[in-house]
Formats: sequence, C-alpha cells, structure tokens
Amino acid sequence: MKKIGIILGTRAEIIKMSVIINLCEKKNLNYFVIHTGQHYFYNMDKIFFENLGLPDPEYNLDVGSGTHGQQTGRILERVEKVLIKEKPDVILVLGDTNTTFAGALAAAKLDMQVGHVEAGLRSYDRNMPEEINRVLTDHISDYLFCPTELSKEMVLREGIDLDKIYVTGNTIVDAVIRNKKLAMKKSKILKNLDLDKGKYFLVTAHRQGNVDFKENLKKLLSVLEKIYRKYKVPMVYPVHPRTKKRMKEFNLKTPKGVRLIEPLGYLDFLKLESNAKLVLTDSGGIQQEACTLKIPCVTLRENTESPETVEVGSNMIAGLETDKIFKSINQMLEKNNDWRNPSGDGNASNQIIEIILA
Ligand code: UD1
Ligand code: UDP
Repeated sequence: MKKIGIILGTRAEIIKMSVIINLCEKKNLNYFVIHTGQHYFYNMDKIFFENLGLPDPEYNLDVGSGTHGQQTGRILERVEKVLIKEKPDVILVLGDTNTTFAGALAAAKLDMQVGHVEAGLRSYDRNMPEEINRVLTDHISDYLFCPTELSKEMVLREGIDLDKIYVTGNTIVDAVIRNKKLAMKKSKILKNLDLDKGKYFLVTAHRQGNVDFKENLKKLLSVLEKIYRKYKVPMVYPVHPRTKKRMKEFNLKTPKGVRLIEPLGYLDFLKLESNAKLVLTDSGGIQQEACTLKIPCVTLRENTESPETVEVGSNMIAGLETDKIFKSINQMLEKNNDWRNPSGDGNASNQIIEIILA
C-alpha cells in the first residue's frame, strides 16, 4: 500500500484536509500528518483538530511566524528532514499558503510524488503571495486536483499535462456537508453573541494587501462603519491575529457598530456563517463556503481566484470603494440564493484518495 504524507499548517488547510484525514483513518491507510506550525494559537490551530475529530499530527515543526523568506525557508528545511525519514510515496498539500509551496517543493526535490488539492485557482494578481504559491505548486505537482472545470482550463493553458489533472470538486464542500448538522446542534454562538438568525452581517478580512498597509486597513474599517450606518444590522467580525496586530500597530479604533471578536472554532464559525444575512470577506475559502451554504457574499478585494462563485451568482467582487460595496450588497440581498454549487457534491476527498492509491 502506498504511504501518504499530508502536509498542513494553517486553519484553512486543517479544515479543507479534514475529510481526507478522516477517510485515511477510517480506511486504515498508511499515512502521517506533518503540521508545519504556521498557525499556532489555540483558536487558529488546535481547536480545529478538536472540532473536526482529527488525531494529533505525527509531527509539528513549530515554524511559527516570520517574513515570507524565513517562514518558507524554515518549512522547506524541516519538512525535508521528516520526508527523508518517513519516505512517503506521495505527499498531499492544499491551497496556496507558504506551507503549501514549501511542503511541495521539499517533496518534489526528493523525487516524491506531489498531489496538490485545490489546484488551478488563479487571481492573476502577483501582488498576492498566495498567487505565487499556487502557481509554483501547480507546476511541481504530479497530481493536480482541480475543484472545477474552469480551474482545469487554467492549468491546461499553462502547459500542464492533461494526464496529471483531475476535476474532483472542492474539499470545502465535503467539510461543510460533514459538519453543518453538528454545528447547528452543538454551537451556542448565536445565543452567546445575542444575535438573531438572518439578521446580521458576518465580516472577515485578513489579506496582506488589505491589512498590512495603514491606508487600506483604515479604509476597510471606515467602510465597515458606513455599512453599519446604512443597513443598521449588527456586524460581527472575528478578527484574524494578523489584522489585530496591525490595528494595534497603526493605532486604529473599532468601527462603530462592528463587533470585533476573537477568531472562532469551525463549528461556531459555520453556524454564524450559515445564519448570516450576508457575508463580507476577503478570504478565499469563505467565498466558496458561503456559496455552498447559500449565503450571499460580497468580496472586499479587486479580484478573486474563485470566479465560479461570481458566475453562479453567489458572490460579487467589490474592492474597498463604498459605492461599489453598497451596490453589491443591495444586489446580493435581492437574490433568491438558489444558485448551483460549482465546487462539487461533497465527494472530493474520497476521489482524491482513490486517485492517489490507484
Ligand atoms: C496565511 C496564508 C493565507 C491564508 C491564511 C489562512 C500565506 C502566505 N498566507 O496567512 O493565504 O489565507 O494563512 O488563515 O501562507 N499569527 C498569530 N498566531 C497564529 C497565526 C498567525 O499571531 O496562530 C499572526 C502573526 O503575527 C503572523 C501573522 O498573524 O505574523 C500572519 O500569519 P501568517 O501565517 O504569516 O499569514 P496569514 O495572514 O495567517
Ligand atoms: N474560519 C473559522 N473561524 C474564523 C474564521 C474562519 O473557522 O474565525 C474558517 C472558515 O469557515 C473557512 C476557513 O476558516 O472554512 C477560511 O480560512 P481563512 O479565511 O483563514 O483562509 P483563506 O480561505 O483566506 O485561505
């Protein structure tokens, strides 16, 4: 039986890899997990293992935070050491983080097969570190697990061999299907925050481009306050530690009407998202997740790597300009939310395992 190494490091990777890991356990496969430690706060890391019923990773490399070069370099060196010892036949990485690229690079240089889950996404914005990571990872992978036909087209256009490409759907759909009922039953988040179903906006924003520059973060926070003044619904914003750090550094105050809270575990977040009137975000995963949950989404960026969500009508790209955001919110609130899900039917994780074991 092939030996599989799974490499992850951030909360989004833990969530989107979770059903693959659940299946490896259930099928008693020969596998191990390397956690790079890119995310390490309890509410950015361990809580997801608890919520999603995942065993502790075999390795935690404790790379922590740093500049892109530091983080990528540390991951590369530490992952290589483990891979030399474990000798997997194939490794799986997911998405577009520094963990994704450095993990894939370490394995590719050791002549191990690399499977890239969520391959073929493109924003065509090279100012985003994620775009660099996803392009490079696709080009050193042996299996490209594309969530949609469009993502397959993207990598075919870049000259990648057709026989490396598989359209599987997105594993976020698997995670949502597997956890939604449990979240609805177990999470008390609406009660704890004193919110009524369908009567609040949910906000998340942590992209480097939006929060690491004072002017942009100021603009983002001020636009949130304007949204509150216009729509007069409570706004809840679980704040990523990157954003929290920058708000403090730039001495920016909490916008009026916006409740800044600590990052949430998956069950609480899923419940909060499922019951929101609207989601405002710059997250990649939340655009896809909101589409799956049939919650309208407005993206606070100039572009997206998930244009399928815009095409089916679940998402609008609004940037940080107030007028465009108001227009997008108005349009999204008028929708029937009956769009189709372009990211599959919840069977992506199973297909990925079958393909790498074949
Ligand atoms: C990373 C990914 C991004 C993804 C996000 C998921 C890259 C280049 N970016 O961004 O694509 O959307 O994860 O959430 O890989 N921090 C803590 N505690 C933690 C984690 C982070 O305090 O547990 C703070 C540190 O100050 C750190 C900053 O957040 O410098 C940024 O963390 P980092 O992992 O570098 O990038 P993310 O913004 O989380
Ligand atoms: N998420 C969460 N708690 C939070 C914010 C997000 O559990 O407080 C989940 C969310 O459900 C989604 C994933 O984290 O599945 C998105 O991760 P993130 O926005 O950090 O990364 P990105 O998708 O931008 O890479």
